[in-house]
Amino acid sequence: MEDATNILLQAADKLKQNYLAKITDVSLLEELNNIRVAVLGKHGELTLMLKQISNVAAADRSVFGQHINNIKNILQQAMLDAQNKLELASYEKTMREDSLDVTIPGTGSKVASSHPITQVTSLLLKIFKSYGFTEVIGSEVEDDFHNFTALNLPKSHPARAMHDTFYLESGDLLRTHTSPAQIHAMENHEPPLRIISTGKVYRCDDVDMTHSPMFHQIEGLVVSENASFVEMKALLDDFFTKFFEKKIEVRFRPSYFPFTEPSAEVDIRMSKNSAWLEIMGCGMVHPNVFNHVNINPDKFTGYAFGVGIDRLAMLKYGIKDLRMLFENDMDFLSQF
Ligand code: PHE
Repeated sequence: MEDATNILLQAADKLKQNYLAKITDVSLLEELNNIRVAVLGKHGELTLMLKQISNVAAADRSVFGQHINNIKNILQQAMLDAQNKLELASYEKTMREDSLDVTIPGTGSKVASSHPITQVTSLLLKIFKSYGFTEVIGSEVEDDFHNFTALNLPKSHPARAMHDTFYLESGDLLRTHTSPAQIHAMENHEPPLRIISTGKVYRCDDVDMTHSPMFHQIEGLVVSENASFVEMKALLDDFFTKFFEKKIEVRFRPSYFPFTEPSAEVDIRMSKNSAWLEIMGCGMVHPNVFNHVNINPDKFTGYAFGVGIDRLAMLKYGIKDLRMLFENDMDFLSQF
């Protein structure tokens, strides 16, 4: 072999050592590409070296060519190994940093449900319908006659002061209770009657844990030739058991409402040691009310009751603050 060839081959070996060291040091895939271009590219060092083959003595060309190709293969393999190593490292890093646990259950999609007030209202209607009551729909805007006068609360009546009323410019008002539904029912239908009506009622109250200027009531009215207090008491006792799905204590306390006589306030308690809670007003329809709607009080008797739906919902679900029912808090609502 000629000396000139030998010198070229030694230079090639040096180049190989040089690049092998560089390849081992590489820490980014991008650097590896730069090296590839610098050594094997069109104008890469090894490519240029191979071109020198025309200057190599004819007898040495085959050895020279093989030697350079050998180096090329070694460098290519080294770069491939380095590339695999870098890719694996980067994959492991991603797995460590954005680790994805495929065993965690999916988030699923949320299913809407009805508001607790709506749920309780439906339950109340279902129970009373099972007793043969028919639902009537009342109006939130009422006139003075239906909200007060016909219910035996004439203009000067002191009990009107208990109903802090929202008046409209027209002189109409936002009903302060669902009792006007009784009057409409008796105006529109001949007795016997068994009606139930639910909806929003309004009073100028400040908002706190137990008060709201808007709340919900359910009104019941029975008119027949033999409606009695005992019948009402039995009905309401049974109603509470059905509603709370357990036997609870119910007590009737004498009270006063202008539109019923006698009147009672119904208290309930969930167990022996808990406090009595005032839950409902009721009584026998006052003869003056019958006179306002042209029903003969000598022939017919009736009983009526009004319950706060919000109160019932709070008791049924153990809600301490009435405001929860009106604040559209998703954490609260999604529990129902
Ligand atoms: N309307 C009364 C109230 O809102 C409740 C009631 C209804 C009382 C029917 C007696 C009979 O307080």
